[in-house]
Amino acid sequence: MEKVLNWIDARFPLTASYKAHLSEYFAPKNFNFWYYFGSLALLVLVIQIVTGIFLTMHYKPDAGMAFASVEYIMRDVPFGWLMRYAHSTGASAFFIVVYLHMFRGLLYGSYRQPRELIWLFGVLIYLVLMGEAFMGYLLPWGQMSYWGAQVIINLFAAVPFIGEDLSTLIRGDFVVGDATLNRFFALHVIALPLVLLGLIAAHLVALHEVGSNNPDGVEIKKLKDPETHQPLDGIPFHPYYTVKDILGVVVFLIVFSAIMFFAPEMGGYFLEANNFIPADPFKTPEHIAPVWYFTPYYAILRAVPPMFGSQFPGVALMGVAVLIFFALPWLDRSPVKSIRYRGPKFKIALGLFVVAFVGLGILGILPSTPLYTLIAQILSVVYFAFFFLMPWYTKNDTTKPVPERVTSK
Ligand code: HEM
Repeated sequence: MEKVLNWIDARFPLTASYKAHLSEYFAPKNFNFWYYFGSLALLVLVIQIVTGIFLTMHYKPDAGMAFASVEYIMRDVPFGWLMRYAHSTGASAFFIVVYLHMFRGLLYGSYRQPRELIWLFGVLIYLVLMGEAFMGYLLPWGQMSYWGAQVIINLFAAVPFIGEDLSTLIRGDFVVGDATLNRFFALHVIALPLVLLGLIAAHLVALHEVGSNNPDGVEIKKLKDPETHQPLDGIPFHPYYTVKDILGVVVFLIVFSAIMFFAPEMGGYFLEANNFIPADPFKTPEHIAPVWYFTPYYAILRAVPPMFGSQFPGVALMGVAVLIFFALPWLDRSPVKSIRYRGPKFKIALGLFVVAFVGLGILGILPSTPLYTLIAQILSVVYFAFFFLMPWYTKNDTTKPVPERVTSK
């Protein structure tokens, strides 16, 4: 074994990488529950790629055959149903895990200096993930696939001057059709996954360059053992965090399997009833709503009334609602990072933001009524206030002193 290892090490940095990124990579010793979701996001990524490859073996990206090919996978291909349900459950699981992962960033100020690039790569991952999910949803060619795509692509037509051309370019036709299905297939199975993998690699390279933040927001690299030069509050990633992450994986897989085997449609939230009906360009479903992970933004879109007959203001505001995450590292002016040492202003702001995000998510699923639209408008104001007022309320907050070393809470 040793000889083989030496042979490899002379040609490839195997042992060196193992040490640098696992056995001698020091992570803060106080990681808590919120630190499971990065490794879980990696797990879901693998699930999606593996099940996606098997689905591609029998799926047909053709408007005349797509729906039937999915039914064929479900009924006739051995374990096809398992691949399909793992992939559809995985799509929602991806967003659950990523939303919790992002929320951890808000809790502990993980987007702050020196981790701005980790965050920026993260937001890019989030954008690509939304594109990936949107395009994947068209592929089964059910009623919701078709009409969901129709509604969303039509939004691009609201962009001044270039809108019409832009939406035709995305569709590849004047209506959603075979050309749309084909290009969404190409983007979903290869183009966006490649971009996603590249961004995730960059995310992790940036992470290992600066090291993880932690629930106290204390920089562990500042206090090192004078002899070993290792951070006093750090522990080797392997075996300590590999073991911790395996616990997360086991619990996650139990919940994931329970959903996949017993409730893969999740009451219509993971797979909508309308999508078990083949796409019919002549029959618009009564109520079109995107999948749950898009609904907060959909609610913001619907909260803005058209101006001069144009939907552009709503579309623009929806865009800003997503893109504003990029600015977070520069909006936060607090002297401390972690919520543990922040004052009441930030805590109230974050609490209201969560209420607004979840509330908008619920409203985005429901059909709009005048009352719901009013609530969505109020919650949209709260959503944007969280970001735009951040420089003010983080600067003027009464913070607590940050300890020099991490605490073991
Ligand atoms: C496919 C999606 C993603 C994967 C696979 C992924 C992976 C990871 C992993 C493995 C870690 C280290 C473990 C941990 O801290 O939990 C991490 C850290 C981090 N990620 Fe992600 N991530 C993803 C998406 C995102 C997104 C969407 C954001 C934010 C918009 C983000 C922001 C961060 C930040 C700020 C850290 C450092 C956290 C800290 O040190 O406290 N990530 N990511």
